[in-house]
Amino acid sequence: MPVLPDGWRLVALESVGSTNDEATRLADDGAPEGTVVWAREQTGGRGRRGRNWASPVGNLYSTTILRPACAAPRAVELGFVAALAVGDLVPAGRTVRLKWPNDVLVDGGKVAGILLESAIGQDGLAEHVVAGIGVNVSFAPQLPEMRYPGAALGGTVEAALEGLTRALAARMAQWRRDGFEAVRGEWLAKAGPLGAEVDVRLGEGLVRGRFAGLDREGALLLDTEAGPRRIVSGELLGRAA
Ligand code: BTN
Repeated sequence: MPVLPDGWRLVALESVGSTNDEATRLADDGAPEGTVVWAREQTGGRGRRGRNWASPVGNLYSTTILRPACAAPRAVELGFVAALAVGDLVPAGRTVRLKWPNDVLVDGGKVAGILLESAIGQDGLAEHVVAGIGVNVSFAPQLPEMRYPGAALGGTVEAALEGLTRALAARMAQWRRDGFEAVRGEWLAKAGPLGAEVDVRLGEGLVRGRFAGLDREGALLLDTEAGPRRIVSGELLGRAA
């Protein structure tokens, strides 16, 4: 059985609909931060923007309960914390690129996806956040709707889970100690170069511009022909050749 950081607890399942749903149920019942739901396969894995996340045995599917005790809008910061944690897993010698908002690319292919879901209390604080992370370990499902291919990390699912939970615990500690500014700085250092030409999908539409950074609320900054734009929800596509 994988070994988790001190104080963390593993809920290991053979098969589940979605680890995010199971983690949300446990969080609603009061499970503490550091509870990790891990399944060998998911029968209803969910991605961002209502997509499916193909989840057969062989890759990592886990969701961690976080209790950040921050104002609800700040919960988005944890997506960048989680992306840095996934980047920490990648062996030296391979190139990590973080893509807004939460994608992790290795040698140009998407290796992981992150799906955050929050419960907001009546006091306006994030009561809990479940951080669902899928990591391609032994194979890379094709992503027909993406402009970049999939990539796989290699190694075992157990080793990936141990590495991921260790990295997530360390990155959460960094976020609590140093705040989002430190996370934002490290995320920007691993993101595409400023000035790179990108397209961003917003619903059905596409906005073209140059990557201009990440603001203090986690929004994407873009320089477009019509002037600067700040985008809070969308999908960065890179520029088709
Ligand atoms: C994305 O669209 O890039 C996000 C994919 C997130 C997939 C993970 S796998 C574990 C957790 N359970 C789910 O149903 N989704 C997330």
